Amino acid sequence: MKVLCFGSLNIDYTYKVDHFVKKGETLSSGSLQVFSGGKGLNQSIALARAGAETYHAGSIGEDGRFLLEQLQDAGVDTRYVTVLETVRTGNAIIQNDKEGDNCILLYGGANQAVTTDQADAVLEHFRKGDFLVLQNEINELAYIMERAHERGMKIVLNPSPMDEKIQGLPLGYVDYFMLNEIEASQILGQETRGAEGVDLAKGILDRFADSAVVLTMGEHGSVYMDSRETITQPVYPAETVDTTAAGDTFTGFFIGGILRGLTIRQAMDMASKAASIAVTRRGAAPSIPDLQEVGAS
Ligand code: RIB
Repeated sequence: MKVLCFGSLNIDYTYKVDHFVKKGETLSSGSLQVFSGGKGLNQSIALARAGAETYHAGSIGEDGRFLLEQLQDAGVDTRYVTVLETVRTGNAIIQNDKEGDNCILLYGGANQAVTTDQADAVLEHFRKGDFLVLQNEINELAYIMERAHERGMKIVLNPSPMDEKIQGLPLGYVDYFMLNEIEASQILGQETRGAEGVDLAKGILDRFADSAVVLTMGEHGSVYMDSRETITQPVYPAETVDTTAAGDTFTGFFIGGILRGLTIRQAMDMASKAASIAVTRRGAAPSIPDLQEVGAS
């Protein structure tokens, strides 16, 4: 079984700041670093580093060719990435504060220029049982999900960054929801206002009975739930310097673990360890550990 991550590739401009810039404020940053990023690229790198046979599909401009090298260095097959001549690569302006938290301004660029023909040309190389991993940073998600479902692929959705477009997707086709509490409560809408943790995971399962849910809860860890079992996973404490891509690392290592035949409990544990390493390093993709560092065999 192989995994296709059809998702964003970004150039991340990361500024170190004392605090996030406020309305009307002009703030100086003494440090700018440029990293490879994008939730799609990050998750592909995490999947490959977790040991999965990983293919990335998406679009970049000519200015983003170095992102292909980063993916290839991590062992990701990039043959399905389209390089567009007239559109620039997506980018993110990231503020990283003293606590290691971040806030992100995204420009979609080539990530929003995905076509249905491109999706068809990529998906014809995948079949029943292969995994498809999606986030919410490219266009044509509904089309990609419909076609992947027809092919019998297992669909993993990380609905991040959350917006109103997610509700318009064929969410009944999702096999694995990878989300945080805010995303879960927004998918569920009004009736779960105020619900947290396990109740939100239950709410998703009540609505999408055939799926599995992995809900991340920050310092409270994460929970896996499907119709048969519930598994809770604490976080591994770490010195946080930058949380960028920690969630992507978790997603990639969890799904990578499942693809390698780990049990759900083992995959949750490995994902949690990998994310705890990612937060101790700056940047998105460069912060993602490999299998050896995570200490998994
Ligand atoms: O999840 C982190 C990613 O979000 C960053 O790499 C940035 O590009 C944005 O897509």
